[in-house]
Amino acid sequence: MSLKASGKLVALSRPSLGPEEEQAVIRVLRSGRLVAGPEGEAFEDEFAGLTGSRYAIAVSSGTTALFLALLALDIGSGDQVVVPAYSFIATANAAKTAGAEVVLADVELSSMNLDPASLARAINSQTAVVMPVHQFGLPANLEAIAQVAAQADLVEDAACAAGAQIKSQPIGRPHGRLACFSFHPRKVVTTGEGGMITTNDELLAERLRALRQHGFSHERAELPGFNFRLSEIAAAQGRVQLERLPDLLSKRKSVARQYQECLAGLDWLGLPPDENDERHTFQSYVVRLKSGAPGTREQFMTHLKDTKIECQAGVVPIHQHPAYSRNAHMPLPVSEQLGRTALFLPMHAELSQAEVERVCTAALQFGRKEIPAKC
Ligand SMILES: Cc1ncc(COP(=O)(O)O)c(C=O)c1O
Repeated sequence: MSLKASGKLVALSRPSLGPEEEQAVIRVLRSGRLVAGPEGEAFEDEFAGLTGSRYAIAVSSGTTALFLALLALDIGSGDQVVVPAYSFIATANAAKTAGAEVVLADVELSSMNLDPASLARAINSQTAVVMPVHQFGLPANLEAIAQVAAQADLVEDAACAAGAQIKSQPIGRPHGRLACFSFHPRKVVTTGEGGMITTNDELLAERLRALRQHGFSHERAELPGFNFRLSEIAAAQGRVQLERLPDLLSKRKSVARQYQECLAGLDWLGLPPDENDERHTFQSYVVRLKSGAPGTREQFMTHLKDTKIECQAGVVPIHQHPAYSRNAHMPLPVSEQLGRTALFLPMHAELSQAEVERVCTAALQFGRKEIPAKC
């Protein structure tokens, strides 16, 4: 049977928003207080609670969170910041726009996270910060990274990792000095645009609050700053999303389980690794084509799109963007392999079992395999 053009489009990603979010937004609109109010403060307190950190500072995006985290640490010209080459470009942009030199290290094939062995080769006496990314919501190996990077500060790019855990400890409870989250619509918790920085360091928290608001503290600007505040509307929406987080995570996990059950038999398809000490948020479900695949990634994507399934090529390795073509100081073979072979399959909390079945069936047809009964 051909699946061509059967059924509605299966969306790659979509935020899960309902009447509670609507009511929260209307409550703020009716209050007339749109910035710097009680919703933002409560959102910060609740996020600090979720992550087990002493301070949480809400900002306008994940990118501004990363940028301010580096500024708060006084990172700038003369400093090197190590970033995994296989990451969304925002991680590198934060370091570069802060004035630092971006040094790229490679990732591990299975976890797609920073490889401690490659990190060891990237580090030198100028390394001021290492930015491990919890890629697609799977926690990076922070213990090994912290050991290798003992002389540097860790700023975690936890954009995809609200709700992730490592050895039962929430991501955001600072293993390093600061962790930065995104609330972009493709993230597990969304406020439209938005971000959060967590830390246990009181001075850093004060500096971050000043930096996000024109440098102000105690009614005077102590340093030059920005307007990177989060609106009250966004914060109110975020509070509802945080309350719903256990449910949002469990729905994503059940989609991931269904993919795992149906697709594990395809020896040409690399699936996200099983969780061991980590709890994955499945912010995205990224697979990779292995050698022996029945076609190229592009052919696989065309096949999925022909069957009305949205998909997307995985992230472009940072050094393959013209802006960073000079930042590859060492071979980055795994990032490049993932750049050629990885793709996003549909993943969000609103996916129905039937939609996941359609994705699995399409993948199995590409592999021309018997379709297991449970699919
Ligand atoms: C790993 C990573 N870092 C940073 C960001 C930037 O977050 P934002 O879009 O909220 O600025 C993203 C967002 O896609 C991301 O995936």
